[in-house]
Amino acid sequence: MIAVLGATGTIGSHLAQLFAERGIPARAIVRSPGERNVPLQTTGGDLLDRTSLEQALDGASQLFLLTPHGPQQDAMERNALAAAQAAGIERIVKVSGGAPSLGPNGASPTSITHWYSEQRIEASGIKFQFLRPSFLMQNLLGMQLIGGVMPAPMGNGPIAMVDARDVAECAAALLANGDAPDGAWQLTGPASVTFSDVARVRGVRYVSIPPRIARMALKRRGASPFEIDHSIRMARYFASGADGSATGDVEELTGHLPRSVENFFNDQTPVKGS
Ligand SMILES: NC(=O)c1ccc[n+]([C@@H]2O[C@H](COP(=O)([O-])OP(=O)(O)OC[C@H]3O[C@@H](n4cnc5c(N)ncnc54)[C@H](OP(=O)(O)O)[C@@H]3O)[C@@H](O)[C@H]2O)c1
Repeated sequence: MIAVLGATGTIGSHLAQLFAERGIPARAIVRSPGERNVPLQTTGGDLLDRTSLEQALDGASQLFLLTPHGPQQDAMERNALAAAQAAGIERIVKVSGGAPSLGPNGASPTSITHWYSEQRIEASGIKFQFLRPSFLMQNLLGMQLIGGVMPAPMGNGPIAMVDARDVAECAAALLANGDAPDGAWQLTGPASVTFSDVARVRGVRYVSIPPRIARMALKRRGASPFEIDHSIRMARYFASGADGSATGDVEELTGHLPRSVENFFNDQTPVKGS
């Protein structure tokens, strides 16, 4: 049995859909069972409540670990690992940050949290696979268009953006393959693109705005101080081109080429839980 965290979110909803379509025995651990539309058996569990996670993991042998970014992410990652150890989980497939962003001095507090969590999981003796996605194409849907203009603080560096559907397919492939070796995969699209390229695909014009202006806009929209800091740091990181190299990892794991930005905008089939 595979336990799935984050099954109502961007990546996890696609994974839940894949498991349901393929008839793979899996259980979603959600905060409010019954309230969200998840195509799997659901059980209650909260990443901030280790005991609830331990109970939710009872009888599971594998864990898809996804935590939302935020100031409590480190506590969530620690709770998930402790509960997995107590419940006898044999393998964790964890969604981490993009490989170049990780490290003790990573691109943002989220990147640092992912890195330390990876270290702890590796040291735990539980089998592991780390999925390290680049910028998710789904982020683009949340970016405001003003008239025919897409303003963002992303500079013009190349970014090897990846579709969350491909990340979910990679997770499904690993969780179905008991022989997969421990390791990490940098998940990207087929080629790097700039924000000007993205704007062209959307039929709009990209305007790179200074982080100072982006910070003010986020504040006006009610973003928390954590969210503002995270967004600005990650924008600087992506603008630097550090996450600009496409890899063959999606194809290696799924057997097909990753979706491009053109594919992404031409095929929007929302499955996110409602
Ligand atoms: N966005 C990117 O470009 C990008 C790139 C690389 C890596 N990542 C990583 O991907 C992860 C986010 O993935 P995502 O975008 O798919 O997430 P998401 O859409 O933000 O969804 C978060 C999921 O976590 C669940 N959740 C939140 N708090 C919880 C709690 N206390 N207990 C149990 N479940 C809880 C949510 O459930 P509810 O429905 O109950 O809220 C939801 O299913 C982060 O770790 C991020 O660092 C993101």
